[in-house]
Amino acid sequence: METKTALVTGINGQDGSYLADFLLTKGYKVYGMERRCSRKNRVNTEHLEGKITFINGDLADQNSLLRCIKECSPDEIYNLGAMSFVGESWNTPETTSDVNALGVLRMLEAIRESGRDIRFYQASTSEMYGKVVETPQKETTPFYPRSPYGVSKLYGYWITKNYRESYGVFACNGILFNHESERRGIEFVTRKISDGVARIALGLSDHIALGNLDAQRDWGYAPDYVEAMWAMLQHDTPDDYVISTGECYSIRDFLQRAFACVNISNWEDYVKQDERFMRPAEVDYLVGDSSKARDVLGWKPSVSFDEMVSRMVFNDIDLLGDDN
Ligand code: NAP
Ligand code: GDD
Repeated sequence: METKTALVTGINGQDGSYLADFLLTKGYKVYGMERRCSRKNRVNTEHLEGKITFINGDLADQNSLLRCIKECSPDEIYNLGAMSFVGESWNTPETTSDVNALGVLRMLEAIRESGRDIRFYQASTSEMYGKVVETPQKETTPFYPRSPYGVSKLYGYWITKNYRESYGVFACNGILFNHESERRGIEFVTRKISDGVARIALGLSDHIALGNLDAQRDWGYAPDYVEAMWAMLQHDTPDDYVISTGECYSIRDFLQRAFACVNISNWEDYVKQDERFMRPAEVDYLVGDSSKARDVLGWKPSVSFDEMVSRMVFNDIDLLGDDN
């Protein structure tokens, strides 16, 4: 069988690292694109050194993308690189738009420029539904983004669809609902909680400071979700798919499950609400209908919410235990 080559942007992020793990099991040659920085951040990808090829590139720099494609000659590109933290997007709306919106355009132009037949995956998001106009949200649900991040991702979604329709690029949008894991960035609420609970259990801290506890999300497990990205690019025709569990929980539910892992039932006593973590506009409720992906791609999630919370908490206990 012919070896396929994939270029993954955002390689050092949560999804990039799991996708590379998965593609290696499928026999791919994997190139992982990372930005040059003063100190390498390969917490999630240290184990991939020697197994994949790291390549420098920046979604804000057109020439670097052209060079990456020339160097790797990929069959598939997974565009996962982004300023992905919604809360930060109000502080850096311009950079967020440059990378998350124009970065997609730059990559699509680089594909066109290369003249190669490259399949393209765009990391779109349930944040585009924002202030939801329909529940559950599916591929046909109208969008109403509520943050500079959501707005920037909407451009990425439409330009991907547009290049598919205008130029026949095999380009797919995965509209992924929140997905978490042991490799989740520490600023996102689930990992902040699992890390905070671990610290409390180990006597290293006495509380967790959080913002809005009433928001509700459809939380899946990241390794399940990267399989859906790959499945989209293996299908006969390019299309857009919602990827979600169909179940919805609040931050309070997450807290209750996470504290239960360390036998604490009075979790409210350990949580302080802090204005600094409230957002100028909130997404209150997201829950996805992934019937299309389940029917067409045969995809379904394998790890339950409770199992995911427990894996995250015990992983953080292990990590902090190793540090002490
Ligand atoms: P993540 O952990 O924050 O990873 C994002 C990666 O993008 C980081 O490695 C970051 O590298 C890289 N990046 C940032 N700016 C870049 C630039 N200018 N050029 C190249 N790379 C750049 O995010 P994730 O959770 O893995 O998510 C992956 C993608 O899926 C993102 O596009 C995100 O918006 C989208 N998404 C995520 C979820 C979710 O729940 N996780 C749901 C829907 C969609 P640095 O280390 O250099 O900053
Ligand atoms: N980060 C954070 N920190 N969020 C908090 C906190 C806190 O201290 N307290 C409450 N929250 C609430 C946020 O207001 C939000 O309603 C919810 O927790 C989830 O926040 P995040 O974990 O930061 O994720 P997100 O839903 O905003 O965005 C994630 O999912 C999107 C898909 O819907 C990111 O991964 C995005 O990149 C992704 O597109």
